Amino acid sequence: MKAQTSSSALSVARTERVVGTIIVLGPPGAGKGTQAKLISAAYGIPQVSTGDLLRDNVARGTELGLKVKALLGSGGLVDDDLVCDMVSERLGRPDCDRGYILDGFPRTVVQAEWLNRYLKSRQSGNGTAPFGGMTPIVIRLVVEYNRLLQRITGRRSCPTCGRIYNVYFQPPKVEGICDVDGGRFVVRPDDTEEVVVERLKAYEKLTLPLVDYYHTKGRLVEINGDQPVELIAAQAFNAIENVNRL
Ligand code: AP5
Repeated sequence: MKAQTSSSALSVARTERVVGTIIVLGPPGAGKGTQAKLISAAYGIPQVSTGDLLRDNVARGTELGLKVKALLGSGGLVDDDLVCDMVSERLGRPDCDRGYILDGFPRTVVQAEWLNRYLKSRQSGNGTAPFGGMTPIVIRLVVEYNRLLQRITGRRSCPTCGRIYNVYFQPPKVEGICDVDGGRFVVRPDDTEEVVVERLKAYEKLTLPLVDYYHTKGRLVEINGDQPVELIAAQAFNAIENVNRL
């Protein structure tokens, strides 16, 4: 009973406190989206997935969506300026005021530098968020290449609630159907093996340098991403609670 009380007290504190910027970094299929959703639920802050935002623009046929559609299908990265403008608009919304989880951003050193400037501009009083001075926590998920390929080609997701499954590792109770709301699974068009290979190449060339970038700044927490989902989440929560961010 006592343990229950203290754990619920902790969860109230988590969903009320200022959390700041959390970055989930890792290659395609590392589990960024899976973990970002769990952190989002635990702390009551939004998951800001640049991949989801771009796919939503494609689905709605916006000007941005039309510009990036072919690129997403080929596995290359979208232009830094377009992505940073999109992120700036999203982070300016009121639900980001206590913090947010960046899933898939930054993905290049140019984007990381942009994020630094953005956070500094909030710190200097130009913005509304109270956490401009808190350094981001960067959670890096490490998973080996062949496992990534298997994870991506086995991924399925629910179009209604967004929950992610895997036919090999996290199957639903009924094949092809979401456990939560009965939605019929969809497969992402860029999850074919040929496109995944291109996405992994883009990661190695343009995103991997961010590991050194954030490591040098002392903000990086590495977690073995090839463990059960709940264990990874527990290690991520531990990092969020204990890393010194000042
Ligand atoms: P984006 O949507 O960000 O895709 P990604 O980085 O390729 O990552 P994924 O969504 O494929 O994987 P994930 O790490 O989220 O893994 P998940 O949790 O789903 O980007 C798509 C495209 O958009 C890019 O290629 C680029 O063109 C563009 N883009 C996006 N951001 C950009 C930016 N900042 N700049 C420029 N361009 C940008 O898990 C994968 C599978 O594994 C699932 O089936 C899941 O169930 C399973 N799984 C997860 N965890 C575990 C576990 N612990 N054990 C077993 N299985 C697990």
